[in-house]
Amino acid sequence: MLKTKMESIIACWFLLIFCETHCYKPVVLLHGIMTYNTSMELIKNRIEEKHPGTIVYNTNRYSGWSSLENMWEQVQNMGYDLMNITQKHPEGVNFLGYSQGALIARAILQAFPEHNVHNFISLSGPQAGQYGKWVSILL
Ligand SMILES: *[C@@H]1O[C@H](CO)[C@@H](O)[C@H](O)[C@H]1NC(C)=O
Ligand SMILES: *[C@@H]1O[C@H](CO)[C@@H](O)[C@H](O)[C@H]1NC(C)=O
Repeated sequence: MLKTKMESIIACWFLLIFCETHCYKPVVLLHGIMTYNTSMELIKNRIEEKHPGTIVYNTNRYSGWSSLENMWEQVQNMGYDLMNITQKHPEGVNFLGYSQGALIARAILQAFPEHNVHNFISLSGPQAGQYGKWVSILL
């Protein structure tokens, strides 16, 4: 039980400082090719389960067939989305791109150098290219 007003002010202040350094940063997820944001639901749920209170943005932009649209257009538009999100979170965010989403995410980070992304996770992102001809047969 806090006795004085001063004590509660100090407690709030410490809580604020603690939160500033220990609270989990929001996470932005970017799905892969031909899929929807539902494909990222498992990761989203796991983050929320393990780090309760974390804000998770799970975009559904350029999902399904539209994931085949011009890459620069995707980078630009999802880059604007990311900038809008990061403006709301000056403390910074974490960015996780899956598969093609990892390539787009990396391109966004390079095209929008004013971002405040703290950690970028390239999950199964073919950042070093891909070898083999089965992909061209599939497509
Ligand atoms: C997918 O995106 C839509 C539209 O933004 C959102 O309403 C929905 O909750 C998202 N789904 C998941 C699984 O995050
Ligand atoms: C935020 O999103 C809107 C609509 O997509 C866009 O016009 C605007 O440029 C974005 N803001 C920033 C800072 O990128």
